[in-house]
Amino acid sequence: MKQAKLYVNAANRKSKINKEIYGHFSEHLGRCIYEGIYVGENSAIPNTNGMRNDVVEALKEIKTPVLRWPGGCFADEYHWKDGIGPKEDRKKMVNTNWGGVTEDNSFGTHEFMELCEQIGCEPYISGNVGSGTVQELAEWVEYMTFDGISPMADLRKKNGREKPWKLKYLGIGNENWGCGGSMLPEYYAHEYRRYQTFCRNFSGNELYKIACGPNAADYNWTDKLMSMLNTFHTKAISLHYYTIPTGDWSKKGSATEFSTEEYYKTIQNAYQIEELIVKHCEIMSKHDKDHEIGLIVDEWGNWFDVEPGTNPGFLYQQNTMRDAITASINLNIFNQHSDRVVMANIAQVVNVLQSVILTEGDKMIKTPTFHVFRMYRDHQEATLLDSYIDSCEAGEEVIVPALSQSVSIREDGSILITISNCDLQEEYEVTLDLVGKALGDCSAEILQSKMDAYNSFEDGHVVEPVSYEGYRVEGDKLILTVPACSVVSIKVK
Ligand code: AHR
Repeated sequence: MKQAKLYVNAANRKSKINKEIYGHFSEHLGRCIYEGIYVGENSAIPNTNGMRNDVVEALKEIKTPVLRWPGGCFADEYHWKDGIGPKEDRKKMVNTNWGGVTEDNSFGTHEFMELCEQIGCEPYISGNVGSGTVQELAEWVEYMTFDGISPMADLRKKNGREKPWKLKYLGIGNENWGCGGSMLPEYYAHEYRRYQTFCRNFSGNELYKIACGPNAADYNWTDKLMSMLNTFHTKAISLHYYTIPTGDWSKKGSATEFSTEEYYKTIQNAYQIEELIVKHCEIMSKHDKDHEIGLIVDEWGNWFDVEPGTNPGFLYQQNTMRDAITASINLNIFNQHSDRVVMANIAQVVNVLQSVILTEGDKMIKTPTFHVFRMYRDHQEATLLDSYIDSCEAGEEVIVPALSQSVSIREDGSILITISNCDLQEEYEVTLDLVGKALGDCSAEILQSKMDAYNSFEDGHVVEPVSYEGYRVEGDKLILTVPACSVVSIKVK
């Protein structure tokens, strides 16, 4: 067994870990919305106003704080007025980005807001800057948030919703460097400034406006964009980064059948996000010295080849213990950078890419990634503590840090330590050196399996957390065993 030391200074309280870091993303893509979330009121699958009860319950279990919708690239072609009013009259459209299927718009603004109400999360609307108009976006905001007499508020009332909704998060465009219009940063920045001007704060509602930030390592985009924004009308910019094992979009690799080299390559590529965050934040700080503008990683996760036999445009992939390990690494990194990372949204919530939930007919399974979100949920709204681990290396051809960790403290003084070991061979004995707080009662959970183990519709309980006794207290030290290929969470009172 290898040894490591985890140093935690409970007296050095850092940033608040916004609950929104544990956010999700839902797009009209494949079976995410239809079948995955929304089955319609007349479905035999138990539902409330068309939303699957099992999925809503699961999203409540992980305390889903925020949900982004309607895309993604879909948002760049979405015209919200097609998705309101009597369902039989709603316009049908082609979902050009995702499989060329017919979108019947039966899930629109009212349904999305109802979904968020059922889950108890904040809605995050991604507005259409790519193919929409300023007027269209301005009217959507008016429709959702204006409490009074106006053309859009009257239309909303006619469609059955008397009172406006609260809408905080508004994305002014999605991937405008790509599917959102192939714009150059200067052009987009002008568009952003114009669009946001007409998105008003109505009736006490306060919009938190999010500009379309960079794709992965496009530092030029961040620099140009930030030089043209001001903190008065921008709360955050977004960053998109997907982990692709091979780094080759045309051959990403299978979600379930992979070599140990591919496994470590995936871990290595997942770790890349830290460098992206650090470098983009450095550029942001150059233009925004007081750190008033946040960074939102509103699309992240593993992107593999689709499951054999499924529609290539639907991006359906299984989810293994490898996904749990990369989820753990990503969430630890977001926690560690929560001074600037104010939100993150894993792509995507159900049946698409690195999902927390998969469905097939009336069956639903929780993926290994789901379990990591559940084990980490008490980090939400806690305060990050200064921590450091003298991690050893894992891997053979590809070398990565073996251990990833983050530590937070809640108002009641309890500490949550989340730690993962991506090493496929070595177990670690981690000694906690805790300064500034006495050790109280501890309780732990572990998620551990083979790297390619997954939950299937035949057996949904292959990869599941169990309570864990692999720790002991010796004097003022806590000694924790972190087995190979595992994620451990430990609460210290
Ligand atoms: O999540 C899938 C797609 O990835 C989104 O639609 C797009 O924004 C990104 O390129």
